[in-house]
Amino acid sequence: MITASAPGKIMLFGEHAAVYGFPCIVSAVGERISVSIEKTRDNIVSIDAPQCNNTRFIEEAIHQGRIAWNIHHEGLHIQTKSMLSSEYGFGSSSSVTVATLMALSGMYNIKLPLKHIFYVAYRTVQAVREAGSGFDIASAVYGGTILYKKGGGVPETILWKNANAECIIGYTGIKSDTPSLIRSVAEKRKKYPERVERIFSAIGNIVEQVKGAITHGDRETIGKFMNFNQEYLRDLGVSTQKLEALIEAAKKAGALGAKLSGAGGGDCMIALVLRGKRKETEEAIMTAGGQIMRVHLHAPGVRYETTDDQQELFIVVDSNDNVLGYKTRIECHHDKTLIHRSVGALVYDKKGRVLLQKRSMTKDKHPGKWTVSASGHVVKGESYDEALHREMKEELGVDVPAMFCKKIIVNDGLETEISSLYTGIFEGPFHPNPIEVDCVVFMNRIDLLQNMSSGKIVLTRHGKEALIAVGFLP
Ligand code: MEV
Repeated sequence: MITASAPGKIMLFGEHAAVYGFPCIVSAVGERISVSIEKTRDNIVSIDAPQCNNTRFIEEAIHQGRIAWNIHHEGLHIQTKSMLSSEYGFGSSSSVTVATLMALSGMYNIKLPLKHIFYVAYRTVQAVREAGSGFDIASAVYGGTILYKKGGGVPETILWKNANAECIIGYTGIKSDTPSLIRSVAEKRKKYPERVERIFSAIGNIVEQVKGAITHGDRETIGKFMNFNQEYLRDLGVSTQKLEALIEAAKKAGALGAKLSGAGGGDCMIALVLRGKRKETEEAIMTAGGQIMRVHLHAPGVRYETTDDQQELFIVVDSNDNVLGYKTRIECHHDKTLIHRSVGALVYDKKGRVLLQKRSMTKDKHPGKWTVSASGHVVKGESYDEALHREMKEELGVDVPAMFCKKIIVNDGLETEISSLYTGIFEGPFHPNPIEVDCVVFMNRIDLLQNMSSGKIVLTRHGKEALIAVGFLP
């Protein structure tokens, strides 16, 4: 099973003009949606998505992903978990689309730049409904706070250091209908092309200028631009009485600026405050009928969630490898006295070079460090041999004939393992699983020592001791 998650978003500046190619500023929020995919024996795609009121985005993402990456048809079961409510306008359909595509590409070992995930996600959303500017998809993919422009390639990241302390988000209690608001602006543009174009380019200018104010931490200017942006949105006819009431209340309570966020018609407003004014501004928004949303800005973009099941049971032994009982992964990884069983495979080529693997960034321990060809824990009910062959298949995509060599005890400061080392000769091909392994390379001793001393390769404690135990490292 593979799990990926993506964040929701909140528009800070530039809504509506963004649909017509003007820049906007958007931040990813801490609320995420996660999508897990596993293969099944039947030929159908089953979806269990209790919090999504529309599974079309998931179905279409699977369809588009299969076409884009040439994936053969087979049975999949998809399960989502969401902290996002579609009600507040934080963008659950773009987040679920992006997380589904990331999980699908991981399931089939397809390594892609993020911009590729963005393109396929954009195509997916477009096939289900009007995709708009795509700012919500970009936010789900890249995370952080970004300056996004439709058709403008990879967005620029903006550092807004104190955004979480300075921004207040108030919900009107009214769900807005984004497509019909986009349509109403389009009609206005048709009727009054010059006037609306002028508004759009003024909004575009605000976005370009506020970017500098944000990076310099110039709060007075950011607040001023929020107010200007709101005036233009009002002119476009997308503000409402309720939004205006919350915005006015925030400004009266001392906010430096306030505006609606998103399509308008309801959903949320955003206010900028100095630290000392936060409490009274929040109270004023609530008195005006708003609900304060405790969202965290600048959240990370789409990512794989750890594949390491923290509740898996490991075999706890004494220093002579006699079984004492079973403890979970999380318990074993936080108690050095719990010696538990593991395996390590050292695969050589015919020249005597050893295959080293770089651990993926989704591992719960030592992400990005290098180790032996394949390794892992022995779980309850498994023998050393069974664990070794399972790990080789899971990590390298092949099962290599291997012989037991020796056992070592390794203490890396956090956990203590008794590890059975095995050696074998196999030259590939290997099919590393990107969820577990970043890459594999055969290396001779001199190159390894050089890479270690230049800092290019940092070995895990287990990797280093295993290589010393088999005589590969001095
Ligand atoms: C909606 O939250 C923001 C809009 O600009 C639409 C879009 O950019 O896709 C109105």
